[in-house]
Amino acid sequence: MRLLLFIMPLFLYAKENWFITKLEYGKMLYNNPRGISCAKCHGKYAQGKIISKYYITKKNQKILKIIKAPNIQNVSFEEFKKKLFHKYLSVMPKYDYLTNQEISAIYLYIQSLSRKKK
Ligand code: HEC
Repeated sequence: MRLLLFIMPLFLYAKENWFITKLEYGKMLYNNPRGISCAKCHGKYAQGKIISKYYITKKNQKILKIIKAPNIQNVSFEEFKKKLFHKYLSVMPKYDYLTNQEISAIYLYIQSLSRKKK
């Protein structure tokens, strides 16, 4: 009985997932990965975009600094996964709480974008 109570929610969860395709799931996660939206920095189509511009002054010279999130449409899955679990990037947050299933859904979605928009 106790086992049944434990397993039940898993079935319910699995059933719930059937209502959306993996692609839709990936889209949802790309825009809301339980953290800052990927789209906010990488753009709606994962095409990359400028996050911020600012000036620093060095030896009385104004230097323009641009912070840019790269295009991520052509990253290999290995690299993609590695970047989400990174320990060293300065701008991008860590997404080490994402499950393999979630990561592959986001990846699938981004791949679909790259076919649409190059
Ligand atoms: C706050 C802005 C920001 C957010 C939010 C963000 N990124 Fe990034 N991402 C960056 C920046 C900037 C880089 C370039 C590396 C660096 O310096 O941090 C990067 C690098 C990457 C790379 C490596 C690209 C390459 O060519 O090696 C991947 C893949 C990536 N991001 C995927 C994602 C995904 C997926 C999400 C959402 C789960 C996300 N990012 C959210 C800013 C962001």
